[in-house]
Amino acid sequence: MNILVLVSVLSVAISSAWAEMDPTDNTDTPNFHKYCIIGAGPGGLQIAYFMQHAQRDYIVFEKGHGAGTFYNKYPIHRQLISINKRNTGKTNKEFNMRHDWNSLLSHDESLQMTKYSKVFFPPADVLVKYLNDYMTKLNLNVQVNTTISNLLKRKDKNFEMYDQRGTKYTCQYMVIATGIASPNKPEFSGWELSEGYEDLSIDVDDFEKQSVLILGRGNSAFETAQHIMGSTNVIHMMARSRVKLSWATHYVGDLRAVNNGLLDTYQLKSLDGLFEGSVSDIQLKKSQIDGRLYVDNFGNSTIPGGEIVGAVDNDALREGYDRVIRCLGFLFDHSLFHPSMKVRSAGEGGEKYPRINFIYEAVDVKGMFFAGTNTHSLDFKRSAGGFIHGYRYTAKSLHNILEWRHFRVPWPSVYFENLQDLIPHMHKRVNEGSGIYQMFGVLCDVVIYNEDKTAATYLEAFPCALACKLPKVSGHKAPGAVMFMVMEYGKNFSGAGKDTFHEDRAQGSPNEAHRSNFLHPVFYHYDKLFNQETFIAKPEKWVLPVPDHIHHLVEDFTTKFDGMQTHILQTRRFIETTTGQDLRHFYGPQCLALALTSTSLPYGCQQRTDDGSASFIDFSNETKERFSDMSAHLLPFVAMLK
Ligand SMILES: *[C@@H]1O[C@H](CO)[C@@H](O)[C@H](O)[C@H]1NC(C)=O
Ligand SMILES: *[C@@H]1O[C@H](CO)[C@@H](O)[C@H](O)[C@H]1NC(C)=O
Ligand SMILES: *[C@@H]1O[C@H](CO)[C@@H](O)[C@H](O)[C@H]1NC(C)=O
Ligand SMILES: *[C@@H]1O[C@H](CO)[C@@H](O)[C@H](O)[C@H]1NC(C)=O
Repeated sequence: MNILVLVSVLSVAISSAWAEMDPTDNTDTPNFHKYCIIGAGPGGLQIAYFMQHAQRDYIVFEKGHGAGTFYNKYPIHRQLISINKRNTGKTNKEFNMRHDWNSLLSHDESLQMTKYSKVFFPPADVLVKYLNDYMTKLNLNVQVNTTISNLLKRKDKNFEMYDQRGTKYTCQYMVIATGIASPNKPEFSGWELSEGYEDLSIDVDDFEKQSVLILGRGNSAFETAQHIMGSTNVIHMMARSRVKLSWATHYVGDLRAVNNGLLDTYQLKSLDGLFEGSVSDIQLKKSQIDGRLYVDNFGNSTIPGGEIVGAVDNDALREGYDRVIRCLGFLFDHSLFHPSMKVRSAGEGGEKYPRINFIYEAVDVKGMFFAGTNTHSLDFKRSAGGFIHGYRYTAKSLHNILEWRHFRVPWPSVYFENLQDLIPHMHKRVNEGSGIYQMFGVLCDVVIYNEDKTAATYLEAFPCALACKLPKVSGHKAPGAVMFMVMEYGKNFSGAGKDTFHEDRAQGSPNEAHRSNFLHPVFYHYDKLFNQETFIAKPEKWVLPVPDHIHHLVEDFTTKFDGMQTHILQTRRFIETTTGQDLRHFYGPQCLALALTSTSLPYGCQQRTDDGSASFIDFSNETKERFSDMSAHLLPFVAMLK
């Protein structure tokens, strides 16, 4: 016992002596792991799951006493706005994930949020329970009650960090999954008179007969307004930009219909209102006369008895407020890092996100990766990468990328030695693939052809922005042509103020497919993979550069792209055009007739054998097998093949 005490005293003495040295010179490796993941929220758990599955050496450090502790508090009014869509009329698990916005990916079918609650917008506590079950049932290596700080990268390229107990950990690679959890508190003049969403009372009686000004126009602002509306005199809401409705922008981070009651009470003149103004331009003052809060907006004083500077007598804010509430969102928390770590913020999304590249790695710190909502700078205002139903897939992308970089395991793929088999697979993906559906415009399915375009390798949900680096990132060579499949909205359809309900919004005919507005698959074919310069020079709003051939599958009201003529035939024709192959299927007698009348046989009459010679094919058994796992809506197509 005494010896132990002595040793620990000694080690404290040594470590305090070391503290004066440059810690980036350290080379010791206590508590070493290949990967250290910070944060056991949905992003951290998701990447941990994939690492566990691949039997990698990883550990998750969580400062709370369980998983998902952010959701113990937020959203403060406890109702999630991510949909819990339990029923789709389908049993296909992959398809159902297109409409499940809360579950994480795993092989365990019991771990679906749809089995945890019947409520469409479930209480946040259900998510906390779900995340803890996910952590426990999958036996993920999470160390709770561990607040990491002083994280730094050393000269020996390892990372080191300490917890609140002074224990030191070292790691070869980091995955930061701490979320975006630090309340944004801009210091405008008089800000201390306002209160933040993070400290707000949720007792509606505290707002009885009050006039409230809400700063901010995001979902937390509207959530707050919705909650207190029945008690207040008036609610005014101020933000820099006009209101962006999610149904018009097709961005789930914009204002969702579930909380938008204030739009009604504004437009129907029920005393509430919205106006535009920049928070940094206002001055908040407390009146000595009536004790209320007044806003000096753009130099116009409204405060009673105050100095009147160019004020008009009908100023919108002239009545003052009992409360001013800040609902200005959250920022990435840099306090985790040692001062030697310079982690800049991303341009897009402002100060909110750390600056990362398309392999989810900090631009300023090699070997430090990000997972979860803090990767959203890559698709901010465009896709779902800031939300569970999006970043569960980008966490998987990150895992696939790391597997190739660190262990030479190529991106998972399916190889088709026969292009006739590629087409049904494409249809399966178009109709059920959830990663490309949720992360539209961001994750692409990739078809890599062999040199003579007779065989193909198929990669699922690959980051479109990494397409020009496909071989380097995925481990798959691209000797010739490549094709990308992306889900997209119409380029002139989404945006604040766009009328997304206009009369001609939907297309039905394949001839008009390129005018499709709603989410639909687009195929981009390149005879040769483009380089980074071409990618950077792509037209604005385009996911990929202008291809050699492009094809839109016409949008579908039911989102089932299974029309024999409108979808399936079009896909085959496109592959035939771009590969120069006849991919039709024939009956035996037709092949015989063709063999007698022409010099070469179409693909459907050939079978490649080991010695390279072609023979007639009896594909009935094989076809049955290949299609046995296909969803019911493709069965007519199978029937056609028989
Ligand atoms: C974590 O801390 C909480 C609260 O202090 C405690 O109840 C819990 O037992 C701790 N868990 C572990 C695994 O140490
Ligand atoms: C006051 O408000 C008016 C109109 O609302 C505006 O034109 C003017 O620039 C504001 N500021 C000052 C200092 O007058
Ligand atoms: C986009 O739509 C607007 C109307 O919403 C129209 O005026 C404009 O011409 C369209 N632009 C293109 C390129 O189609
Ligand atoms: C097809 O399947 C049947 C029954 O499973 C089998 O007897 C037959 O040999 C198979 N035909 C070919 C060409 O594999």
